[in-house]
Amino acid sequence: MTNSQPSTTAVQSLLREDRIFTPSSDHAASLGGAWCATMDEYHARHARSIADPEGFWAEIAQDFEWFTPWSKVLEWNCPDAKWFVGATTNICHNAIDRHVLDGHGHEVAMIWEGEPKCAGESGREPEVRHISYGELLEDVSRFANALKSLGVKRGDVVTLYMGMVPELAVAMLACARIGAPHSVIFGGFPAPAITDRMLDAQSRVIVTCDGAWRRGSVVALKHNVDEALDALAAKGHVVEHCVVLQRTKNECTWNPSRDRCWHELVSAQSTECECEAMDSEDLLFLLYTSGSTGKPKGIRHTIGGYMVYTAYTAQQTFNLRPATGQVFWCTADIGWVTGHSYIVYGILQNRVPTLMYEGAPNWPADDRFWEMVQRHRVTHFHTAPTAIRAFMKWGDEHPAKHDLSSLKLLGSVGEPINPEAWMWYREHIGHDHCPIVDTFWQTETGGHVITPLACVTPTVPGSCTLPFFGVDVAVVDETGCEVAANTGGLLVIRKPWPGMLRGIHGDRARFIETYWSRIPGMYLAGDGARRDERGYFWIMGRIDDVINVSGHRLGTMEVESALVSHASVVEAAVVGMPHDIKGTGIAAFVSLAPHVSASEELKSALREHVAGVLGPIAKPDIIRFTQSLPKTRSGKIMRRLLRDVAAGRDSKQDTTTLEDFAVLAALRGNEE
Ligand code: WTA
Repeated sequence: MTNSQPSTTAVQSLLREDRIFTPSSDHAASLGGAWCATMDEYHARHARSIADPEGFWAEIAQDFEWFTPWSKVLEWNCPDAKWFVGATTNICHNAIDRHVLDGHGHEVAMIWEGEPKCAGESGREPEVRHISYGELLEDVSRFANALKSLGVKRGDVVTLYMGMVPELAVAMLACARIGAPHSVIFGGFPAPAITDRMLDAQSRVIVTCDGAWRRGSVVALKHNVDEALDALAAKGHVVEHCVVLQRTKNECTWNPSRDRCWHELVSAQSTECECEAMDSEDLLFLLYTSGSTGKPKGIRHTIGGYMVYTAYTAQQTFNLRPATGQVFWCTADIGWVTGHSYIVYGILQNRVPTLMYEGAPNWPADDRFWEMVQRHRVTHFHTAPTAIRAFMKWGDEHPAKHDLSSLKLLGSVGEPINPEAWMWYREHIGHDHCPIVDTFWQTETGGHVITPLACVTPTVPGSCTLPFFGVDVAVVDETGCEVAANTGGLLVIRKPWPGMLRGIHGDRARFIETYWSRIPGMYLAGDGARRDERGYFWIMGRIDDVINVSGHRLGTMEVESALVSHASVVEAAVVGMPHDIKGTGIAAFVSLAPHVSASEELKSALREHVAGVLGPIAKPDIIRFTQSLPKTRSGKIMRRLLRDVAAGRDSKQDTTTLEDFAVLAALRGNEE
């Protein structure tokens, strides 16, 4: 479980990609014209945004509604940034109220599709809801009042652990409305994730659902919450209120002193609730994400900068324009940052309908997404490379069966997209005419930092292209100097930008150590990258012990801790390995306690154990038992050796015999 830092220059891919797709002016016209007319204009605006960030962002921020103006655009004391200093506003006002006040209350804000109840060709019409800005305002205000009636005040962190139902967005916006930061926990996480996060955030109120639908089964959310709240009580942390939305009607235990029914609670509330005037730098939310060491860290985002950055990146990258028939569908879960920024805040602020769905892409059939694109006349489709690779595997016939002619723009996010997947996406979903925007960013950056601009930037399969406005991103060596073209290095951002994180909740030292100490004065993204001769960025993957499994960040150490917490395990080392669909799979090398014998049953038990601690995403793809882990003389686990071993075998060859790495390790010497 030691930290290793592989050389970033060595991981250089030799791939050269010569295909370049230049946007056509016809296509730009069909999207209402591009925000930036030419690449020259992009370069000029980008240069200006770096030379004069305060002037640049002041102009952008004028398009938002502030209750009181800022006295200064930016105050920068590395690593502490304050944007729109002294201004007050409310992001909920900018996402909903302003549209209603401007006379657009009847327009659709959100389209929601529930999981179809039955498989098979007939009878699979799902439940669909269209929610207007006016209705959303009422729903949010009611729930905001409900939270107040429970005693929730400005600054109190409210935990949201729900399925993909509209009420999750309603709850987030209600929190924002009353100035209570939200902490959304992905509904696929098990109870220990809730316990850790609520404790870390000192959160005393949780909103959940009885259950969530996924592939025809119920995920028992309330049950997980009960388990977590019991564990919290045992640690002396009392959660006062648990609001439960009924969705699946599964059996739940009910604790009358703590549990409240969502519907009963809101039915008693007024539909009017004024937005709190929040300071630009007040906390909007915490979102926990994996790091290379310890437990997940609570990334802090504040209101003003995040509000401006998510709306502006969404508008420019996706070419959003209100009332032009656009329908934006980002398939992420709101439990991740992509859902926060590009299902909820960034899209609603642009007054373009946002589509949210419950369930899975391959239930009740492998063509569910394409049926949805057709049904809702989706114009913007945004998903992750892991999903695209799965679509490829399921077969071309599924998209081919449906009318995808509404699509105008495709997006990719969360992990590097391999050129094969990019080309397939372009051909089979985009019918060779939709531009693809490969957006690179992180929970910490709040919004896109490297991305093409739709209909402006020529795209190249596998490259996330060029920096967004205001982002001074570079590839540098260990001394902070920019490296030559096509040389691998560390991805850094050299200047503050409005959407940047404002810290790790409760851990200043870790904030500085993780992001600001390896190259002083620069934000270290944690990814390796290179820039080609055109200046385009190519992300080469994480340089720390974080792995990206199906677009989800996982710390290898978290998986190791989960394994070691099983009574049969003495020591564990976890590494990433290439995986056709997930991008990176998880390989675990485990040494067992004396007298415990290796068996297939034990492997299954260990996989289930990890799922119970970290969720099904973290289940190792292969587990290998070993007498001891190969280590250097100084005691460091030889991760490169383990990565090689893992990469060289597929899961079918996954043996249960105990391996002895001693010989191999001796051959490889102390190279790591
Ligand atoms: C990876 C998700 C290549 C990267 C928005 C980053 C990407 C981590 C891309 C952040 C992309 C995200 N190309 N890699 N377009 N987008 N990544 O915090 O390793 O869940 O550091 O944010 O995902 O993951 P996170």
